[in-house]
Amino acid sequence: MHNHLKRLLLACGAMLFSTAVAHAACDVDKAGSELSGEEAEAVYECLRQSLHDGYKSGGKGWIPADYVNDYPSWVRASKFPAAPGVHGNRFLNTYVNETGAAEYVKYAEEPTIPAGTLIAKESFSVNDDGKVSPGPLFLMEKAAAGASPETDDWYYMMVAPNGSPQAVNVMTACSECHQGASSTG
Ligand code: HEC
Repeated sequence: MHNHLKRLLLACGAMLFSTAVAHAACDVDKAGSELSGEEAEAVYECLRQSLHDGYKSGGKGWIPADYVNDYPSWVRASKFPAAPGVHGNRFLNTYVNETGAAEYVKYAEEPTIPAGTLIAKESFSVNDDGKVSPGPLFLMEKAAAGASPETDDWYYMMVAPNGSPQAVNVMTACSECHQGASSTG
């Protein structure tokens, strides 16, 4: 256990360790499942800067860095973090760029999301002891019609809390569930 922890810390490096200290300040005195919307929002207010700093740090590889840098200036889709659900049991905050915001916030059954729409979903978790941990940033981009028929023209991207781009099989890890759920078409 001890050795394992040491290896983990070495692998993560000083950067992740220092952000981990920043989240401790946002811990709460109850289980994540018992937080009200306002309480979850207070955790988010405490965490949001270090969450964003984490996502931004380091190179982004194939993921456009400006998506990650800029999403806090897009339209926030809800007042409170959405309660844990399908994205690994985490609280979620969704931001949509100008291109898609008006259509997205209608929450239509069959939305017509225009090409060029960017959606970012920040995530964090609060465990049963009230300990707060940052989760990945989920990104979606609506590409031009016909650009990616197998994903209904959506591009999916994911950034770890320490800023590393995550290589995932977007078909099995994202698209199949999304097309099944058809929340964004
Ligand atoms: C188990 C099913 C499932 C998986 C797997 C999944 N999603 Fe989602 N996703 C959903 C559902 C349902 C919603 C709408 C409800 C919500 O916001 O949680 C959603 C919403 C989103 C949103 C906000 C935009 C929207 O459609 O409301 C983004 C961004 C997103 N997902 C990205 C991803 C990425 C990137 C992956 C893969 C790394 C992924 N998702 C994997 C089911 C899934």
